[in-house]
Amino acid sequence: MTKAVIAATGLFTPEQSISNAELVEAYNAYAERFNARHANAIMEGDVAELTPSSVEFIEKASGIKSRFVLDKAGVLNPDRMAPNLAERPNDELSIMAEMAVKAARQAIEAWGKPVSEIGAVLCAASNMQRPYPAMAIEVQEALGIEGFAFDMNVACSSATFGIKTAADFIASGSVKAVLMVNPEVCSAHLNFKDRDSHFIFGDVCTAVIIEAEDQAVGGWEILGTRLQTSFSNNIRNNFGFLNNAAPEGIGKPDKMFVQQGRKVFKEVVPMVSDMIVDHARDLAINLDDLKRMWLHQANINMNEMIGRKVLGREPREGENVIILDRYANTSSAGSIIAFHLHNDGFDEGDIGLICSFGAGYSAGTVFVQKR
Ligand code: COA
Repeated sequence: MTKAVIAATGLFTPEQSISNAELVEAYNAYAERFNARHANAIMEGDVAELTPSSVEFIEKASGIKSRFVLDKAGVLNPDRMAPNLAERPNDELSIMAEMAVKAARQAIEAWGKPVSEIGAVLCAASNMQRPYPAMAIEVQEALGIEGFAFDMNVACSSATFGIKTAADFIASGSVKAVLMVNPEVCSAHLNFKDRDSHFIFGDVCTAVIIEAEDQAVGGWEILGTRLQTSFSNNIRNNFGFLNNAAPEGIGKPDKMFVQQGRKVFKEVVPMVSDMIVDHARDLAINLDDLKRMWLHQANINMNEMIGRKVLGREPREGENVIILDRYANTSSAGSIIAFHLHNDGFDEGDIGLICSFGAGYSAGTVFVQKR
């Protein structure tokens, strides 16, 4: 059985970002207009009045200070409250494929090998912009990669599930190297008219090259991967092709991201902490030897609590990497951004953990060792 290595990573960050102050100003302008438009219905108790959002709440509840987005103007327009992302003709590169190609090119350059050595492309993300042809196949074509490609969706856990899928392909000898991309256009499935969640997400794309150990130079050996799922309605998005056939159509807020934030917090923290501890024990990894954790970037309180539970103490500076202050929650890409930006200072043999969690529920752990 051939072991797998994370050989290189790449990151595409959109040029535009939105601060909490800008986001709150847009939401409050929207709420004011909504309340004025529905003044009579609000007075008669038929419609609930919208209360303002606040920068202080957002920072305290989530740790997020800003987020990158593909289109700032549409999100901040109180009459729109959604990004403006025009449809493209079929002969142009799709938006998600374009982000993926940018992140992938960076990873390929860092890897320093020809794309002819890649045997498979996985597009692992929480939303695909169309059912078919696969985004992954479009990326494969744009980069001139041979072999096969497919899309996979495990919400915020898509990247760790993708790494395991790639590692298993390598272990079985199907291919020698896999390119996995995680294009996340979260601004397009976030309801910016919803005060409870309008601050949560950002847009980004990450790329990871996973390669057979016997040909990899340097990189990070994958010591073990573990996946777990357990059904929950507490994070849900009902958008899908059947919407078109339903008499209700697609105009309702449940066709975007909806969550029971408190329940998610309460249920996912123990699920993920226990999973990390159990997986480390089964791999004979002493958690005191864990140099760094690159967790899914959900929110500061959840991430800090998982860090404390896993280590059994307050994590030291830089041990539990946080990038969500600048990037917000970027779904499947979060743990990979953290890994990509903060994997310096490791000596050969040092161990780290990439871990994701999210809708499904789903969670994935990937222990890696510097080579
Ligand atoms: N601005 C100001 N106040 C707000 C607000 C906003 N944007 N949104 C909610 N509030 C208010 C609520 O009205 C409520 O007020 P009340 O106590 O007077 O009723 C109060 O803040 C608390 O609201 P609640 O929704 O219970 O907030 P919370 O403390 O649970 O924080 C989350 C919300 C989403 C940040 C938090 O639940 C969380 O981090 N959950 C984890 C979910 C997650 O990360 N999911 C991602 C997928 S893994």
